[in-house]
Amino acid sequence: MQDELFSVAGQVVVVSGGSRGIGEALAAGFVQRGAQVIITGREAATIEKTASDISTGPLPAVPMVCDVAQLEDIDQLVKGVVSRFGRIDTLVNVAGVNKRKKVETFSPDEYDFILNVNLRGLFFLSQAVGKQMIAQKSGTIINIDSLNTNSPLKGVMPYAISKAGVSMMTRGMAAEWGEHRIRVNAIAPGFILTDMTNKLWSNPTMQKWGNDNTPLKRLGRVDDLVGTAIYLASQASAFMTGQVLYVDGGMSAGTLWPIEL
Ligand code: NAI
Repeated sequence: MQDELFSVAGQVVVVSGGSRGIGEALAAGFVQRGAQVIITGREAATIEKTASDISTGPLPAVPMVCDVAQLEDIDQLVKGVVSRFGRIDTLVNVAGVNKRKKVETFSPDEYDFILNVNLRGLFFLSQAVGKQMIAQKSGTIINIDSLNTNSPLKGVMPYAISKAGVSMMTRGMAAEWGEHRIRVNAIAPGFILTDMTNKLWSNPTMQKWGNDNTPLKRLGRVDDLVGTAIYLASQASAFMTGQVLYVDGGMSAGTLWPIEL
């Protein structure tokens, strides 16, 4: 049975940072459900390959270069999508970078690199797409947030600052743009195995810690996030905006004891 409530078929969906990891999985999830997906990233060859790999649905995914740290790229992307497809129904803000270091060792360049992509890039891409959504009087934005948004993990301070900002943008843009029928929500994933995190989680001590401290007793997979993204883009969440949904195997629900009671 095809459930219209959860349908994203025919939607024009832009995924920033769609070349691999979470962005690739979310893009593939939308393609499989009949959306017209545009995946973006910094390198043409990389996103062309990913677009070809995930094009298993009725509408092939289209690659368009956009470094979210470059305002001209954002402008070109939005103009390119609108001139080719006429509108943007859903923006999925996935592009993100991280560096693990002690607070006292971050250089200004490293700090700027992280904030420029995760925070400034997300703000100005949302702004550019938001203008189009205001004009078309509809749209949905889905931000990829993090567990770091509330309580920072050790060694990722600039990243945690950026993700706290993503939560604020989720609520703030939802509040300002509700009158234009634009909904803005976020997914805060738990620990998901991707190229960004593989090095950390290949450490057996970390793996045991992650499995033991997640109520569902495993680390996340990129596909674990697809259902929530489809829900947030579809009519099923029509009255939901400004919310951060944790998809983390229960990690944020409570603290587990290391001993049997
Ligand atoms: P990843 O490193 O595999 O993917 C990041 C994506 O962003 C890549 O496609 C990369 O090309 C793109 N990107 C980086 N800089 C960019 C720029 N300037 N312009 C355009 N695209 C750019 O990492 P992963 O794990 O898939 O992360 C995706 C998002 O999910 C990030 O925002 C990350 O903070 C977030 N996240 C990841 C978690 C995890 O455990 N893997 C947990 C919580 C959040």
